[in-house]
Amino acid sequence: MVTDIACIGAGYVGVPTCSVIAKHCPDITVTALDIDEERIKNWNAGIMPFYEPGLKELITECKGKNLFFSTDIRAGIQKAELILICVNTPTREYGLGKGGGSDMRYIESAARSIASAAESNKIIIEKSTVPLGTADHILHILKANSKPNIEFIILSNPEFLSEGTAIHNLEKPDRVLIGGPQTPGGLEAIGKLYNIYKHWVPEDRIIGMNAFSSELSKLATNAFLAQRVSSINSISAICENSGADVIEVLLGIGTDSRIGTKYLMPSIGFGGSCFKKDILNLAYICYSLNLTEVAEYWLQVLKMNEYQCKRFASSIIERMFSSVAGKSIGILGFTFKKGTSDTRESASIYISSYLLADHALLHIYDPRAEEERILSDIRKESELADELVSVYTDPYLALKNCHAIALCTEWDEFKSLDYKRIFETMRKPAFVFDGRNILDHKNLEEIGYQVYAIGKNL
Ligand code: UDX
Ligand code: ADP
Repeated sequence: MVTDIACIGAGYVGVPTCSVIAKHCPDITVTALDIDEERIKNWNAGIMPFYEPGLKELITECKGKNLFFSTDIRAGIQKAELILICVNTPTREYGLGKGGGSDMRYIESAARSIASAAESNKIIIEKSTVPLGTADHILHILKANSKPNIEFIILSNPEFLSEGTAIHNLEKPDRVLIGGPQTPGGLEAIGKLYNIYKHWVPEDRIIGMNAFSSELSKLATNAFLAQRVSSINSISAICENSGADVIEVLLGIGTDSRIGTKYLMPSIGFGGSCFKKDILNLAYICYSLNLTEVAEYWLQVLKMNEYQCKRFASSIIERMFSSVAGKSIGILGFTFKKGTSDTRESASIYISSYLLADHALLHIYDPRAEEERILSDIRKESELADELVSVYTDPYLALKNCHAIALCTEWDEFKSLDYKRIFETMRKPAFVFDGRNILDHKNLEEIGYQVYAIGKNL
């Protein structure tokens, strides 16, 4: 029985995963390891480096009992039988594979740390999203750098958690994939991981397969999800230019039991750290396998996403009499979705930069995103960030004297703002651009707003 687990990478994936394992397996010691001393210090002090509902409570329950945070990577590796790799795998920003392939240096450095520290056999679990064949590459690095006679088995066990619902996704997963070698040693390792999940996951939800299948399933799942969003967003463009209403069409499509209504909400475009990166990665794999048509098929999902975001920004400019120069626009929401403080690849970044290119003044309010994060995200896309962007901590102050409201993130609190009171403080005509289709448009029109909503012909 496994009694000690280490996790390399104490981030969005690593810490929720470690916490849920620690909660359900009190006999197993779980140690989250990271090279980032500040991060580990914060975890130990109970300071959350990012917001994730339920995580703080879970850590409080387990920390110091069977959940630990440490920068002593060597010691953590040495005592663990099972090691999770939860490091980041961003899109490469340089050299071969730039803009498409994954930057594998963090995975490789984790593998090298394991090789140099290991004194006994280890089961290595790939949890980060990785290119196909990474399990083989890790094994190669381990064999070439470790002490003799140490056995390593590499399993692929991809994480399917979504930010904002990570704890729920881990507690009640739709499925758990365990990919690994179908050899006696491989099957034994798969069995050990299976036994850990069995503490809280129904057995029929744990699916065994080979590592390639598991790695590809992860990439393909994210590509399919992103494709659904791009598909409904493409339909939203048709709706705005015809008499159709995207929410009615969503129901018309989704009630077909083969399709379903989940994950079909139109938006200003998907964001987050995974979708773009994983589709670029999938396309990169296709090109390297000479499957050009397949690569282009998936890249179209990204093109549609960029188009949707640009289309929303253009609609704002066109409706505001083709110029937003010197006009104040209140941006409601900067995170890539509600329930998180994460702004990575958020559509709000690109919308802000399109509006800044037209010299709009932006008043940004988000319930969770920090001011410095918002400004640094926009600075990467626009030189005008420091001159034309103000970040507020109160939505009413943010929208005061604005010419328009652009709702970019579907935070629940935006539904219950006092839009009548806001209207009185705004310049006229006052516009609302609902990029998430969550507001009561009829009510807004009655107040006196000029309303535009994604996928509606208003
Ligand atoms: C995603 C996958 O859901 C998860 O399984 C994987 O492990 C990591 O990537 P995450 O990026 O946290 O999770 O967020 P998700 O809830 O999937 O949303 C991604 C983006 O799509 C968000 O910007 C969201 O607003 C957008 N979206 C989602 C829509 O626009 N419409 C929808 O119907 C659903
Ligand atoms: P993810 O969303 O994939 O979890 P994060 O950036 O939130 O990504 O977390 C990844 C963590 O992995 C970071 O805290 C980073 O410092 C850590 N990390 C990266 N490389 C290593 C390594 N070789 N050893 C230990 N920690 C690492």
